[in-house]
Amino acid sequence: MKALILAGGSGTRLRPLTHTSAKQLLPIANKPIIFYGIEAIASAGIKDFAIIVGDTAEDVKKEVGDGSRWGVNITYIKQDAPLGLAHAVKISKDFMGEDPFIMFLGDNLLKEGIPEFVAKFNKHKVNSLILLTKVPNPQQFGVAELDASGKVSRLVEKPKKPKSDLALVGIYLFDSNIFKAVEAIKPSQRGELEITDAIQWLLDKGYRIEHHEVSGWWKDTGKPSDLIEANQLVLEMLGSRIEGEVDSESQLSGHVILSKGAKILNSKVVGPVVIGVNSTITNSTIGPFSSIGDNVFIENSSVKNSIIMEECRIVNVNTPVSDSILGKGVAIEGKGPDYSDHSFIVGDRSNIALS
Ligand code: DAU
Repeated sequence: MKALILAGGSGTRLRPLTHTSAKQLLPIANKPIIFYGIEAIASAGIKDFAIIVGDTAEDVKKEVGDGSRWGVNITYIKQDAPLGLAHAVKISKDFMGEDPFIMFLGDNLLKEGIPEFVAKFNKHKVNSLILLTKVPNPQQFGVAELDASGKVSRLVEKPKKPKSDLALVGIYLFDSNIFKAVEAIKPSQRGELEITDAIQWLLDKGYRIEHHEVSGWWKDTGKPSDLIEANQLVLEMLGSRIEGEVDSESQLSGHVILSKGAKILNSKVVGPVVIGVNSTITNSTIGPFSSIGDNVFIENSSVKNSIIMEECRIVNVNTPVSDSILGKGVAIEGKGPDYSDHSFIVGDRSNIALS
């Protein structure tokens, strides 16, 4: 089995963060989102990966590399425009050959590991295995309808009036029949070749599709609030590791990862929190649910439930910065007492002065 990871697309719902970063490279608990998918697939023993890249190809290649750090081989396939998930499959045909493959959307995070799905796909000898999960907002996803016997009968992409609350998770297993489907379907109203239409084509032609309902959490990190929630979910699973320095005036509670060269001075850290390499926290309170990147400086401030990327500076912001995402190198400087929480979604290298 091979793997296809999708890291193209435009990431419009995550602007301004995606003006300067591929959405799949945004950090969750200080690790690019796409790494979680690669690790999950690599730990299922799959070695040959293709990654679909678009406008942000160079950034993705630089960050992900050739796969050797995970013991896998990565080939990059350029998609000239985000013409849809089924289009991404279409352009991977030569790479896949006759092999079955797992397709993983590079902005998806799943708690469960994937070996169980791969085993089910192989054992039941189906043409495709799709993953489903109940969601409160099915109109934002591909939606599956089941018949009376519990089998998938219809798939609809982002229906206005969903007939079920079962969303398609962005992880799919296919055999090579999917290439017939992606050749046969036409672009949807939004101009994309939809993977839901391709799977529907397989269903209509009598190919065998099975589904698996995921039991743990799943997150499609499409919007800023999804990133903050994904950050909470991943932080909750991490343990503690202290490689940095904590002075005697500071207090750490809960699970905290403090990376090499990081310093906590006269501060309170309430886990789960991860603090990156060479970051300094002085006279401040961090957490819970916060990821602080490398080389961050926080002084006389408080941060909770937020993602603070590398090289940010937060100084004298005396009411909490909460539910926020700060891009790389953002500086926020306060001047005096303040009375309400601050909430920011700020792109790389912005400056904010609070008066
Ligand atoms: O996350 C699950 C959902 O993913 C499914 O429920 C939907 O059926 C499926 O269509 C998809 O919907 P999204 O609207 O979330 O897809 P998005 O445009 O965000 O693209 C998903 C990933 O694939 C993202 O990492 C970008 C990448 N991509 C997207 C397109 C359209 C490509 O690499 N190439 C593309 O042409």
